[in-house]
Amino acid sequence: MTDPGFEPRVVPLTRGRSLLVREMRTDDVDALLDLYARLGAEDRYRRFFSSGVPPRAWIERMVALPDRGGFGLVVHAADDGAGDASGPAGATPSAPLVAEATYALLDNGDGELAITVAPGWRGWLGAYLLDVLLEVAAERGIPNLEADILTTNRSMLALARSRGYVTTSHDGWNIVRVMIGAADREPHWPGPHDRPRILVEAPGGRWVHEGAARAAGLQVVVCPGPTSRRRPCPAMTGEPCSLAAGADAVVVAHPLSDWPDLVSAHRAVHPEVPVCLQPRRGDEAVPDVVRLAPADEDAVVTFLRHLAAGDAEPDPGLGGSLDPR
Ligand SMILES: CC(C)(COP(=O)(O)OP(=O)(O)OC[C@H]1O[C@@H](n2cnc3c(N)ncnc32)[C@H](O)[C@@H]1OP(=O)(O)O)[C@@H](O)C(=O)NCCC(=O)NCCS
Repeated sequence: MTDPGFEPRVVPLTRGRSLLVREMRTDDVDALLDLYARLGAEDRYRRFFSSGVPPRAWIERMVALPDRGGFGLVVHAADDGAGDASGPAGATPSAPLVAEATYALLDNGDGELAITVAPGWRGWLGAYLLDVLLEVAAERGIPNLEADILTTNRSMLALARSRGYVTTSHDGWNIVRVMIGAADREPHWPGPHDRPRILVEAPGGRWVHEGAARAAGLQVVVCPGPTSRRRPCPAMTGEPCSLAAGADAVVVAHPLSDWPDLVSAHRAVHPEVPVCLQPRRGDEAVPDVVRLAPADEDAVVTFLRHLAAGDAEPDPGLGGSLDPR
């Protein structure tokens, strides 16, 4: 694939200052070491899952990401508006780095994203850099960017949520793996369709049966529902949803009181994809919609495997029933 290159961008700030955003280079190692050394230990832990400054060899490998299909950005800004005569104040290539953002190419064709913004520059720069990464990834045919995020990292979770994330796994209660759509800004199924695909709509992007379903060989993506202001749920607006269209079955595990039209929206937009309901306490029956019996995890997973394979009859013994409970 031809690399279209990345033109440096100057971001104007107030009082005539600006930031310079440019592609990461192999001679950025010292400046990146300096950026990471200036972070607090907690920020480093959030970025690297280790509170120390990463070893030089690790950063040398990071700046060489483009050799392996990845991409990186750095951001320069001068302290207190200091600049030089050759450009807007602050936008000097010799000024310290205040941020970096990268993605590494994964085996499944997605990019693994990471972002650091120095404390004094937070509030909008993370979102700006994430948008540039998504733009570059989309130009290069990368469907999604993914990241492991500590569940305590509220800022990164807020950032991912604002761009409409779905989750692809959880490591206990500590780490969540999120996926954000790059191509046309919609999340897409990652990798080859070599396992039955189940799209689950569940609060917070966490589904009670996801561990068992994945262990049983199902590919599960969990959508936290129509939560992002910037990326409204396509199905709810009558538009095709790439994840639902590519799923072998959809499970709605949101309380119907939150999204009363979600089941009918999926059935209307993708009538060929079976939709089940995992009812919550007080949920009314939806005519002709299979209701999962959530108490029996093995039965639910077995039922979904049959449903995804197209050979499931609604059967209470298999965890799915058309009868209201
Ligand atoms: C994650 C990071 C890049 C985000 O930078 P940023 O977007 O410029 O700015 P902030 O940190 O202020 O985060 C912005 C969002 O988080 C929200 N946020 C910040 N602190 C929060 C908290 N304690 N609880 C909930 N939301 C919070 C902000 O309201 C904002 O969301 P909004 O735009 O919807 O209002 C930056 O915080 C950082 O570098 N952290 C350390 C390294 C890191 O965690 N990297 C991510 C690893 S993948």
